[in-house]
Amino acid sequence: MNKRILLFAGLCGVGVLLFAAASRSEIKPPVTPTYKTGLAANETRNSAFGKEFPLHFESYQMNNQSDEKTMTRFKGSIPFRKNDNVNPLPKGFKQAAQPYLKNLWLGYPFSFEYNEARGHTYGIQDILEIDRINNYSESAGLPATCWNCKTPKIPEWVAEYGDDKFWSMNFHDFRTTDKISMKDQTIGCANCHDPKTMELVITSIPLKEALAEQGIDWTKATRNEMRGYVCGQCHVEYYFMEKDHGPNKKPKFPWANGKNPDDMYEYYMDKGPKNAQGGFDSFADWTHPVSKTRMLKAQHPEFETWGDGPHGAAGVSCADCHMPYKRVDGKKKISSHLWTSPLRNDEMIRDTCGNCHADKTPAYLRGRVEATQKKTYDQLMTAQDLSVKAHEAVRQASEWTGEKAANYDQLMAEAREWVRKGQFFWDYVSAENSVGFHNPVKALDTLAKSQQYSQNAVNAAMAATNFGIGKTLEGDIHTLVPPILEWTRKMQMEPENLQKHIWTKYLTPLPKAERVWHLQERLPKGDAPAVPANVSAK
Ligand code: HEC
Ligand code: HEC
Ligand code: HEC
Ligand code: HEC
Repeated sequence: MNKRILLFAGLCGVGVLLFAAASRSEIKPPVTPTYKTGLAANETRNSAFGKEFPLHFESYQMNNQSDEKTMTRFKGSIPFRKNDNVNPLPKGFKQAAQPYLKNLWLGYPFSFEYNEARGHTYGIQDILEIDRINNYSESAGLPATCWNCKTPKIPEWVAEYGDDKFWSMNFHDFRTTDKISMKDQTIGCANCHDPKTMELVITSIPLKEALAEQGIDWTKATRNEMRGYVCGQCHVEYYFMEKDHGPNKKPKFPWANGKNPDDMYEYYMDKGPKNAQGGFDSFADWTHPVSKTRMLKAQHPEFETWGDGPHGAAGVSCADCHMPYKRVDGKKKISSHLWTSPLRNDEMIRDTCGNCHADKTPAYLRGRVEATQKKTYDQLMTAQDLSVKAHEAVRQASEWTGEKAANYDQLMAEAREWVRKGQFFWDYVSAENSVGFHNPVKALDTLAKSQQYSQNAVNAAMAATNFGIGKTLEGDIHTLVPPILEWTRKMQMEPENLQKHIWTKYLTPLPKAERVWHLQERLPKGDAPAVPANVSAK
């Protein structure tokens, strides 16, 4: 075939696909109606919206499903522990685990508990019980900021306590029933809709500010843009601001240089506290106790990953795949308000992907997604191993008593910078919830860089010791530094537990304490059981 015919055929292919996408969003979906509800402008209770929109509320309630039927090859709505592969899944039901999570986050609350996400209706319940929040203390150890993506009540609270004060308040101050309803004020209608008109709105303060900084006026955004922005309120990378840069602990999106991991890494270089030289240190979420490296924790950058992927770039919005139009009640077509994996079953694949890829079977489409995910997962595992090796190399080099390179200090500083960078790039993909599908090329590019950066860390640490640690760093990293599969706040209160693994020895034991909180209730003091019977012993 000559080149011109090939090019023509290629253009046709793209044309057909784009036409399919375009014709869908122009003809098929109903025009969003405008409403005049009887709701108050500051209504945040989902049940109140439910009275006006019973069909939507019914669809929203479907987010309460959390069992094996929701599982896909890599994801699903059971909040299984991502590190150990089994617990609390039924025995033998294997998902793709990431065994080194606790090693990589050691010294940071993420090492205590990290679960697969589930439906929006569980938002508050899950944050109240997660071991990252200190339920053994009057002080949560985490600020009120954590509520930002769990409830539509934030604008009200910020107005009440002030933008300069609210974010750094104690998380626990807002958890009781007089402050919030666990089921009725979890992530819901008022996060995305104006209660009076039901128009899509942005209520997230950090997203409003991030868009304004880029000169984007969201009130002029197209309907299609809003179908992505409403998710970008929460499904993004963010950090808590240092007080030297603005309101203490206020959430902020690191987008000033762009949304790629390279841009964010650069951004964080001067967002830490003021230093003696009159500038700013780099921002750090915590210092890893083993390598003494100032680390960054990435959080679910779905919006940033999707935006320049094959679908985001072509204008396919989050709602196209996660909120398909469904005929309910025998007649009416509404946008599904069950936000979950479109791969849950064949019907869902037909309702979402099928609108644009009508010539493909559900089995084929599932196969394409899983092919991307498997490749991403394999590289994620390699990047994870190398990141662990990088920490271990720096640990060994920092304790090296043999002959050192003349520029030892400089090489060690470089090694730590590579550890930080390698792990951040791994985490950007690890924390992103599609296992590569939202942007296959970016996922693999980011993981390739992560591996390279972690290897640079190993090389620098080796060079610092004149390759003296070469012998002790040899062999399978899984034998040298086994995965830590069990680690909780409670375990860190027992000094003898710290002796069980070569890395946990670098932690400081936590003060022994009894549990203070369970869901929305304060537990009775004194002889009360440390953990109530209906809480799994974590
Ligand atoms: C995470 C954001 C989000 C939340 C939370 C949310 N919606 Fe929606 N809603 C949307 C999007 C996106 C659309 C589609 C709008 C469009 O295409 O123009 C929509 C559409 C609607 C519509 C218009 C008709 C339709 O079906 O397209 C109604 C009515 C509605 N939602 C009611 C509700 C109710 C009631 C709740 C709470 C139980 C709720 N929504 C929660 C994002 C949300
Ligand atoms: C106010 C913050 C917020 C907004 C807005 C939001 N989400 Fe979420 N989303 C969350 C949180 C938090 C979870 C995890 C809840 C849990 O595990 O308890 C989640 C979970 C999910 C899940 C996983 C569900 C499962 O079954 O595993 C999907 C899919 C999802 N969101 C899609 C979306 C889409 C699409 C939008 C926009 C239409 C959106 N979200 C808007 C906060 C938000
Ligand atoms: C072209 C379709 C498509 C678009 C567009 C899309 N997603 Fe996804 N999303 C998927 C698929 C497929 C998965 C993988 C599900 C699986 O593995 O079971 C996924 C997974 C997810 C998950 C994890 C679901 C789970 O089971 O835990 C979240 C959260 C999510 N997407 C949010 C978003 C957000 C937010 C946007 C927009 C910024 C978006 N998605 C855009 C198709 C899409
Ligand atoms: C609203 C339309 C639309 C929906 C919904 C949609 N796609 Fe696509 N998809 C497209 C378009 C347009 C392209 C081509 C993009 C291009 O030419 O760069 C594409 C490309 C693809 C590709 C090739 C690029 C890649 O990522 O490997 C795959 C695979 C794919 N889609 C799978 C899916 C799956 C699976 C779903 C459902 C979860 C889905 N699509 C939902 C419009 C859509």
